[in-house]
Amino acid sequence: MIGVCDSGEGGRVAVEELRRLAPMADICFLADRENAPYGTKSPLELISLLRADIRRLRDAGADEVLIACCTASTVFDRLTRGENNKVFPIIAPTARTAVASTKCGRIGVLATGATVSSHAFKHEILLRLPEAYVIEIEAQRFVDYVEGGKVDRKDVRETVDIFKNEGIDTLILGCTHFPRLSGIISEYAGNITLISSAREGALELTRHARLDGVGATIYL
Ligand code: DGL
Repeated sequence: MIGVCDSGEGGRVAVEELRRLAPMADICFLADRENAPYGTKSPLELISLLRADIRRLRDAGADEVLIACCTASTVFDRLTRGENNKVFPIIAPTARTAVASTKCGRIGVLATGATVSSHAFKHEILLRLPEAYVIEIEAQRFVDYVEGGKVDRKDVRETVDIFKNEGIDTLILGCTHFPRLSGIISEYAGNITLISSAREGALELTRHARLDGVGATIYL
């Protein structure tokens, strides 16, 4: 069984992607709403939340775990060898796709406060494309738009405009909640290619995990 964790709605976006890719996989989904949001937490807090999430999913029978949260994925390297066995973070696969997508080498990253502070996306992009120009913008309030359902369109437009003015051709939705806003973002983004971290995480799992079962979904 595949375990999927996030602070909330972003994990559901990843589960929907997984369902499309692997309809028969058994999935166990943990939305840690009690400790949400993750994007305002320190790395120390995040590692203990991530450990607890993995433990809960393993206890529920998960063999592989998808960290369907970019913020929690920024502390993946702090897990021990035993803890990280068959655990899949989503920053690197998302960065890889963004690098493959860009033609001009200018990539935007829209993410939570903690993810932007970690510069994890920038690091992974520069590893693969050292000459890339990467602009990272924090949009923690977008998480609230998704969780609360009330979107400030002016804020979304102004944020997208900053990226446009920087001449990017590829924008990483570097929080799994943000694909829920991709309709509005793409209205303003013109020709910029959007990369969904939730989709990239689901795709990464299909490359490495056994995705069989009866198509069951368990909600923790
Ligand atoms: N969905 C999460 C992410 O991908 C975090 C949202 C939050 O709880 O701040 O970063």
